[in-house]
Amino acid sequence: MNKFKTNLLAFLLYFYSKKKRKAFRAKHYRNAEYDRELRKRGILGRDSFVGFGTIITDKRTRIGKFCSIASNVMIGTTTHPTQFLSSSSVFYKDISNVTEGLALPRSKWVKYTFSQPVTIGNDVWIGRSAIVMDGLTIGDGAIVGAGAVVTHDVPPYAIAVGVPARVIKYRFDENTIQRLLKVRWWDQPDEVIASLKADDVEGCLKILEALPEPPVK
Ligand SMILES: CC(C)(COP(=O)(O)OP(=O)(O)OC[C@H]1O[C@@H](n2cnc3c(N)ncnc32)[C@H](O)[C@@H]1OP(=O)(O)O)[C@@H](O)C(=O)NCCC(=O)NCCS
Repeated sequence: MNKFKTNLLAFLLYFYSKKKRKAFRAKHYRNAEYDRELRKRGILGRDSFVGFGTIITDKRTRIGKFCSIASNVMIGTTTHPTQFLSSSSVFYKDISNVTEGLALPRSKWVKYTFSQPVTIGNDVWIGRSAIVMDGLTIGDGAIVGAGAVVTHDVPPYAIAVGVPARVIKYRFDENTIQRLLKVRWWDQPDEVIASLKADDVEGCLKILEALPEPPVK
């Protein structure tokens, strides 16, 4: 078979299976209903997606644009006291199903009942089953590896993996990162974003640097 026929066959097979794959993905990976709810509450930015089983504990958490949050990710954890006689919540909330009156006065426990919001930038990818502790910031363009437990802020464009998560590398060199953070492609109008060829970062930067800086949104 010549090259043209092989390519045509590959294209037809791809086209044929595309619909099935799309339906499969929608059913098993993407939680479209949850995405809609999060967008409505202003938690999730445009073209960002959250997988099944992902939990966002604080409604003040903000996830930027073009983020890919995999399934079973925990964003924000809430906390229990570590210095009390017991870490059990029966000593700071009136919820014991056996003994009434265990709870300490409210002033002592109030901080344990509130989660802290997490701030996730734009173009962030968080891998499957990662945990991001309360109150942290994941910078624009960062990647968190599958299964990581993030205990510190992750700088922009860093790739952090492991338990506890450590930065193992950056997606681009320092100069490119600074340029990307300056042009903020994710804040550009739709038609500009649509004109970008994502696999040519230098080409994208040249186009974006010739444009006025987008307004902060
Ligand atoms: C973080 C990640 C993007 C890194 O990919 P990469 O840049 O190709 O990195 P490499 O595979 O070259 O790995 C670099 C090093 O990090 C380690 N590493 C990679 N991912 C890791 C992870 N999730 N946890 C711990 N270590 C990891 C590798 O073992 C390797 O270590 P070594 O140099 O000692 O051998 C990728 O490994 C990952 O975790 N992807 C998430 C997958 C996922 O959850 N997909 C869901 C779809 S949304």
